[in-house]
Amino acid sequence: MPKKRLIIAMTGATGAIYGVRMLQVLQLQPEWESHLVISKAGLVNLKYEMDMDRATLYQLADVTHGIDDIAASIASGSFKTEGVVVAPCSMKTLAAIAHGFGDNLISRAADVALKERRRVVIMPRETPLNLAHIRNMASVTEMGGIIFPPMPAFYNKANTIAAMVDDGVGRVLDFFGVDTTGLYTPWNGL
Ligand SMILES: Cc1cc2nc3c(=O)[nH]c(=O)nc-3n(C[C@H](O)[C@H](O)[C@H](O)COP(=O)(O)O)c2cc1C
Repeated sequence: MPKKRLIIAMTGATGAIYGVRMLQVLQLQPEWESHLVISKAGLVNLKYEMDMDRATLYQLADVTHGIDDIAASIASGSFKTEGVVVAPCSMKTLAAIAHGFGDNLISRAADVALKERRRVVIMPRETPLNLAHIRNMASVTEMGGIIFPPMPAFYNKANTIAAMVDDGVGRVLDFFGVDTTGLYTPWNGL
């Protein structure tokens, strides 16, 4: 049974923990093959926010790709994947994806997934939003992508940052059919 492939793209928005946590979840699931690509700014934030370097991050992924490797497998639609998660997604990368501007492997991989009508989930992180940000989110939505801002829910009474992050990670990975048991508790009514 071939593994299902999911591309995890990390950029320089705050929230590196989202990408890291997704890779950790996928690592425990033998039927999934994670493909990681992280931008240069993403590496800066990874170091600053999590005190983690590239080599340590790379150990969490099954396959890693350089941000400038536009000849990578995931740069082509003929390489089958279940789609792309951009977590976290900067406003710069959001703009590139919204405009089909594939100048690096993240925007190219998302562009490819959109043209192949595969699932693209963007976790955009900025606040407040200007009109360009909002329009770019609308464009991605019009192309079939899913805008999933990392906005924690408070009704599940998470009392740690890790639990809040797992809630978002679980909800996003659900879109791809990843087993998210234990990551969050679905609302079942009062
Ligand atoms: C600590 C830190 C936090 C940042 N947070 C954000 C953010 O939340 N959203 C955003 O759009 N950009 C943020 N930026 C700026 C981006 O990193 C910058 O625009 C970068 O060019 C994005 O490039 P990339 O999309 O290729 O990673 C942050 C930068 C730093 C250093």
